[in-house]
Amino acid sequence: MKEIKFNIPLKDQKYFRNLIKFVKSKKSLHGPGENIHKTKKKLNDIFGFKYVHLTNSCTSALEMSALLLNLKHNSEIVVPSYAFMTTASSFVRAGYKIRYCDIEKRTLMPSFNQIKKCVTRKTRAIVIVHYQGFSVNYLDKLQKFCKKKRIFLIEDAAQALGSYFKKKPLGTFGDFGCFSFHHTKNLHSGIGGLIVINNKNYRKKSDFVFEKGTDRSLVINDKQKYYSWVNLGSSFLLSELHASFLLPQINDLKEIIKLRSKIYNRYISNFNKWLDDEFIICNEYIYKYNYHSFVIVLKKNIREKFLNFLKTKKIIAFIGYKSLHTSQMGKKFLQKKQKLKITDMVENKIVRLPLHNNLSLKEVDYISQNIKRFFLSKI
Ligand SMILES: Cc1ncc(COP(=O)(O)O)c(C=O)c1O
Repeated sequence: MKEIKFNIPLKDQKYFRNLIKFVKSKKSLHGPGENIHKTKKKLNDIFGFKYVHLTNSCTSALEMSALLLNLKHNSEIVVPSYAFMTTASSFVRAGYKIRYCDIEKRTLMPSFNQIKKCVTRKTRAIVIVHYQGFSVNYLDKLQKFCKKKRIFLIEDAAQALGSYFKKKPLGTFGDFGCFSFHHTKNLHSGIGGLIVINNKNYRKKSDFVFEKGTDRSLVINDKQKYYSWVNLGSSFLLSELHASFLLPQINDLKEIIKLRSKIYNRYISNFNKWLDDEFIICNEYIYKYNYHSFVIVLKKNIREKFLNFLKTKKIIAFIGYKSLHTSQMGKKFLQKKQKLKITDMVENKIVRLPLHNNLSLKEVDYISQNIKRFFLSKI
């Protein structure tokens, strides 16, 4: 058996064909051109997004959110500690303070109470991470809570394109929704991202922040002759070249998710027969889901042994995030005496199994059998 990789990014010929067609056309790599316009339109048509920018990463989308907020220095932003580094650092860069919240073992996302506990008079925004492409089961309540308290809500939906809460797509609940097209995601452009501007008051300003803090968008739309510096911004744009690879994938979105769902459900049916004492699978989600990843939480502290065993069988599994509040950079934002008990308890027990569109069901069975072997022989 050849090595089973944790991820193999989509690389179908037809995606490259569109890229090659674009290169042969000798059109501007910078854009925005046909590929960027069409990608945006298709995403808007499918998900009902009203105003979007294709960015060069989800990190850029998060950094855009932080700049758009334009809050006072040291304003507090609530972020789960169990998150990606830039979920937090994007807001720190803009001069804000992070207040970490804990997560639930069952979902690996914060409960509503855990979030509320972190909200103080200084809280100006909450970042909710849709881990694995799931959302918390109180997203509508959180949205109402934020409106009532005049707190911004930002969705870190890096992993969540194609997932819904009730009947609404993720990314449409917050003031801003941020997605990733990094090559570990269901759809990808190598690197890439998207910001959805749901808060109407920030649409015009988002054009400026997106274009390096200038009003170049007005020149592109023939409303002005020259552009100049009007805001803080940065170079957040995705290139036409990247968009030319991404665009054809959007037509295949349903198929891509369907294939992932078969792999996901094969793991579930394999594991249901055996092993519920050894690990938890977080799969209580009842809404439409994009099958982004397959995550298990081990019951014992045996992750290194487990990963090493899988490696001897040529199976490459991966850990989840390293918590932010224990990291070299992130620990300075932990409140005095603050404890994140569940994050501390589970972060070293989380494992992501291979899940990608090139994984065969035979390989899923091989992985599952070896996991069974590991636990039955108590290696
Ligand atoms: C929750 C979350 N937010 C943000 C990011 C950053 O995404 P990107 O690599 O597109 O900047 C990731 C990356 O995987 C992520 O998982």
